[in-house]
Amino acid sequence: MASFLNSSIGKKFLMSITGLFLITFLLVHLIVNSLIIFDPTGALFNSAAHFMGSNPVIKIVEPVLAIGFILHIIYACFLTLTNQWARPVDYDKKHAGNSSTWASRNMFVLGSLILIFLIIHLSNFFWKIKFTGSEMLDQSTVDGIENAYLLVTSFFIDWWWIDLIYVLGAIVLGIHLTHAFWAAFQTLGLSNDRWRKRLEVIGWIYTIIVAGGFAVIPLWVKISSMIN
Ligand code: HEM
Repeated sequence: MASFLNSSIGKKFLMSITGLFLITFLLVHLIVNSLIIFDPTGALFNSAAHFMGSNPVIKIVEPVLAIGFILHIIYACFLTLTNQWARPVDYDKKHAGNSSTWASRNMFVLGSLILIFLIIHLSNFFWKIKFTGSEMLDQSTVDGIENAYLLVTSFFIDWWWIDLIYVLGAIVLGIHLTHAFWAAFQTLGLSNDRWRKRLEVIGWIYTIIVAGGFAVIPLWVKISSMIN
């Protein structure tokens, strides 16, 4: 097992498994966050955020998610370094023909930018909800639960540059996903000549929904606060 995970294909396998897990997480995360748009009272988003924070099953999934992220990052570093050592001349860039896309050649850079976004993002909301608390969270709600809606929307309304960071984060995430989606299936042997094209199309649809959705939420909150 250890020798499999140390092999190049083993590392790619782990990247794909953790990647597919993160792809699933992103969709669930977007569905919960879209309640910010669909219910402007914030009651639905607050209930969903409270459920996600208190449900015992989710409490087990959360550390798995963190481990998934960490493994994905560690193995991305391993793979990038191994590739660089194996090919000291920048082969990828010199032979960047039709078969490779800009995204596929820059997955490590894109992943690093997503990591920077994630650190900013977790300090904005997750850290406050889980550890430090905030005045916003304490503003009473109908159910007496923490007011995550007020925390999130205040951020998006008060600082335009936060909106910009979230929109740029969503765009970078989208570019990363255009390659990541079908590549994960390919590595796991779940793709063939016929399915490769279909997976690329499904990957594009998924990417547009997820990246588009994450970009629209801060813009929606900001613009509707300016109109009302
Ligand atoms: C409009 C955009 C987004 C909003 C409003 C949003 C909102 C939130 C909130 C409120 C939390 C804290 C949940 C809690 O602890 O109860 C959270 C956590 C988290 N977010 Fe986001 N998020 C957005 C985009 C993203 C993106 C693009 C990613 C991935 C690149 C991401 C990854 C995470 C992760 C890993 C956590 C911690 C795990 C968890 O608590 O479930 N988020 N987000």
